[in-house]
Amino acid sequence: MRIFLAGAAGAIGRRLVPLLLDAGHRVVGTTRSTTKANALRSAGVEAVVVDVFDAAALSRVVCSARPDIVLHQLTDLPPGLDPALMAEGTLRNARMRREGTRNLVAAALTAGAPRLVTQSIAWMYAPGPQPHGQDDPLDVHAAGTRAVTADGVATLERLTLASPPIDGVVLRYGHLYGPATGADAAEIPSLHVDAAASAALLAIKKARRGIYNIAEPSGYLSTDKARRELGFDPSFRLAASVA
Ligand SMILES: NC(=O)c1ccc[n+]([C@@H]2O[C@H](COP(=O)([O-])OP(=O)(O)OC[C@H]3O[C@@H](n4cnc5c(N)ncnc54)[C@H](OP(=O)(O)O)[C@@H]3O)[C@@H](O)[C@H]2O)c1
Repeated sequence: MRIFLAGAAGAIGRRLVPLLLDAGHRVVGTTRSTTKANALRSAGVEAVVVDVFDAAALSRVVCSARPDIVLHQLTDLPPGLDPALMAEGTLRNARMRREGTRNLVAAALTAGAPRLVTQSIAWMYAPGPQPHGQDDPLDVHAAGTRAVTADGVATLERLTLASPPIDGVVLRYGHLYGPATGADAAEIPSLHVDAAASAALLAIKKARRGIYNIAEPSGYLSTDKARRELGFDPSFRLAASVA
């Protein structure tokens, strides 16, 4: 399949590229950096340099890619989630979820892309009985920073799931750890970055329109749906030779 990978040089994108290419897909991948574009080309990606907030340019590159699937792996967070930069990072990331997703969905619609798989997060459930399933409400009545994040997440997910005729899939990822995340472990719900990448690959083929919790086992949320429908395995790791 022809895949448009928005965020090909990010923490997840980098691990996802070899999985997509190994599976025989053609990958058009985005970055804003010409240096990272050259690295992506060396890895076998048809790299395009574009800023997702430039809606017209984004639409042009998605249309010329003519993708069967658009993968949204865009975030705007500080390296290693540096606490000193997180207040501003939370605002930037919420903007990415609202405006970046809106632009990407508009481009996908214009390009006639039938399917969109989007990165979300799995720790935004409203307080309530655990483990949380995908149908539990988001914490949209939260206060402070959590309210900013909840609003961004709710908007990203609504745009993904309710932009017909696009067949939208949301992957609610746990807190990442592993290569290029700056963390060797993460709080619950946790998720190794390789398992996050593998879930996106599985979703391309197997996911039905809707939401999937993607994380390691914990009492906080249920990942039964992803295991059953996608064959998601939280212990998946890339071969060391890929790193
Ligand atoms: N679920 C989680 O816990 C989770 C999820 C994601 C990230 N993180 C953490 O956040 C930190 C930073 O993540 P990251 O290294 O992936 O970097 P990032 O700065 O969050 O960027 C991620 C991807 O989004 C792209 N991007 C950002 N703004 C863009 C824009 N305006 N237009 C087009 N593309 C844009 C980046 O492209 P460029 O190549 O142009 O930079 C990159 O490919 C890491 O520690 C990571 O582990 C955690």
